[in-house]
Amino acid sequence: MSQPNPAVKAYTKSEWKQIEQSIPLPYCSQNIAPYSPLKEDRIDKPSILNIYKPDFKLLQLTDLHLQWNGIKEHKEKTYRNTEMAIRKANPDFIMITGDMVWACLDDNMNALKEFSEFMDSFGIPWSAIPGNHDTQLTSADQFDSIFETSRNCLYCRGPEWVEGHGNHQIIVSNSDGTEKLQLICLDSHDKRKYFINGEDQIGYDYIYPSQIEWVRKTMIPNVPAYVFIHIPLPEFTCLSSLDNCTHLLGINGEKIGCPPVNTGLFYMLKEKGNTKLIACGHDHFNSMAGDCDGILLSYGLPLDFDVYTDDAYQQRRALRGARSYIASAQGIEIEDWILE
Ligand SMILES: [Fe+2]
Repeated sequence: MSQPNPAVKAYTKSEWKQIEQSIPLPYCSQNIAPYSPLKEDRIDKPSILNIYKPDFKLLQLTDLHLQWNGIKEHKEKTYRNTEMAIRKANPDFIMITGDMVWACLDDNMNALKEFSEFMDSFGIPWSAIPGNHDTQLTSADQFDSIFETSRNCLYCRGPEWVEGHGNHQIIVSNSDGTEKLQLICLDSHDKRKYFINGEDQIGYDYIYPSQIEWVRKTMIPNVPAYVFIHIPLPEFTCLSSLDNCTHLLGINGEKIGCPPVNTGLFYMLKEKGNTKLIACGHDHFNSMAGDCDGILLSYGLPLDFDVYTDDAYQQRRALRGARSYIASAQGIEIEDWILE
């Protein structure tokens, strides 16, 4: 595991909350709902998904940003395209890597409920992890209850001792009960204050040691693992350089929006040796996927239409769509559905 940079100080959550009150942040972050007190009834059991076929197709949806500005036509268009992506891919499972909503309107809870009912309507098992915007105007407990009670959703808020919400594991099983694949889903939180090179700075939060420990304890050895997060890990920077990564596909349209601190999740996964894929969302102009030290790092394709409505955004609409991962004995095949 890499040594922490001594010039970087990570504030505790209570310190951050105090500082946050006095700092104007972009977006709507001044309205971040406080994390709810931990409950004792959190579940710490994996969901089991039985797939009786040789391969497994997982569709990743990300960054739909419903609720951005309340324009009905935009929302309907996003729903229409999401439906088209699902019907086109016809996946065995759908994973949503966060930012289903963008916290600028105060009825995010209803928007998340509506979205959850929409996802249930396909009759395909699915799950989700929170993005940085999903719980800004909806409490994390509300988020949990919406997705835990959805009919076809395998979401689980995760064990009490693990930082964040929605840290959960899904085991994909063969017909004989053996494990085919495991999906590890992690909360990558929102923003926090850092002290870097003598200055207070705001950056994206990191994966907490308790989450890394949970993955280490929970992961089934020798069963291929796909890991899902919203905010990319620092290792995703290798996707913008050919020096460290074998490029497979995609467009590098913006800086990698990762935390400035590396807490070592990637190194732990690499050491364990069975992780085949780490997929994220969050960066709206990046769609790269490439091999980094034997693990496929991949962005999903955002499905939103509302955010960044400037000319540059319009020109980069070719990045909009959805990405599928087909797992077979040969490895992982990527299949993109790009919006026309
Ligand atoms: Fe995001």
